[in-house]
Amino acid sequence: MGCISCAIPRFLRPTTTVSPPLKFQFFAFRCRTAAAAAVYPALSLPERDEIRSPELVAREYADLNLSDKFCQEVGHVRIRQHVNPLRSSLMVPVEVPDWDAVYNDTTLPLMVDIGSGSGRFLLWLAKRNTGSRNYLGLEIRPKLVKRAEYWVNELALKNIHFVFANATVSFKQLVSTYPGPLVLVSILCPDPHFKKKHHKRRVVQKPLVESIVDGLVPGGQIFIQSDVLDVALDMRDYFDAESNKLAHIDCINPTIPCDDKGWLLNNPMGIRTEREIHAEFEGARIYRRMYQKQC
Ligand SMILES: C[S@@+](CC[C@H](N)C(=O)[O-])C[C@H]1O[C@@H](n2cnc3c(N)ncnc32)[C@H](O)[C@@H]1O
Repeated sequence: MGCISCAIPRFLRPTTTVSPPLKFQFFAFRCRTAAAAAVYPALSLPERDEIRSPELVAREYADLNLSDKFCQEVGHVRIRQHVNPLRSSLMVPVEVPDWDAVYNDTTLPLMVDIGSGSGRFLLWLAKRNTGSRNYLGLEIRPKLVKRAEYWVNELALKNIHFVFANATVSFKQLVSTYPGPLVLVSILCPDPHFKKKHHKRRVVQKPLVESIVDGLVPGGQIFIQSDVLDVALDMRDYFDAESNKLAHIDCINPTIPCDDKGWLLNNPMGIRTEREIHAEFEGARIYRRMYQKQC
């Protein structure tokens, strides 16, 4: 089993260091157990009672069969707080990789995941789609990138690459130099930066949105999601503002189920991200949108 607990940012962990009052602990436990029951009906009752969300992550990504070697060789990856992407050292665009050196076939369609976190989500997709699609993860925490690249080598995948980058600053250069078509961009559960004065630190900003829309091929798609409604609404507003170039997926394919506010009812990717697993375990709802670039 891979090194799971060390990958989970402290603010996401299901336990707290300061114990809440007993009554609340019991309530939270009941909620988590109910949520686990809803999402994992196949689990037996004792399994559900015992389960913790890091274990759910391990189960979801069990197929990857990632080892603990990175933690043994390099040490644990501890993530403590949000990175401030406006720090001057992070405002410099990164060097573009030699695409021929990182991918087997640079003519394949590309999916970019912005804020790829541990990278397991993208690794899972890459493993299933070798030979048909390339994957690029952009992540602002260098340790996560280092470990994700370690796993890329461990799995001997030649259709996936992770870059330490501030996506807001580097997306355009990276994507515009890729030889093949950009077909999908995902931004999944981005850091919320709750305080209003910190909203400018959020990854989805107008220039990034414009670069994504420009970079996609006609028919290319954008998938966004968050468990924080305010963040989801913020992202939705940015992409809805591009309605001359983008259509929401249910306008193109009315059979895709959405609620009356236009949020997708299901995850279209076939795998959940780690943040998504933790959030659903806590009983949260995930707000999702998928856009398609018009021809
Ligand atoms: C809450 S985590 C979600 C990770 C993953 N997408 C998931 O759903 O599990 C957000 C990730 O975005 C990264 N991030 C935040 N701002 C970024 C930026 N400007 N460019 C690239 N990555 C960023 C963070 O370091 C963090 O790993």
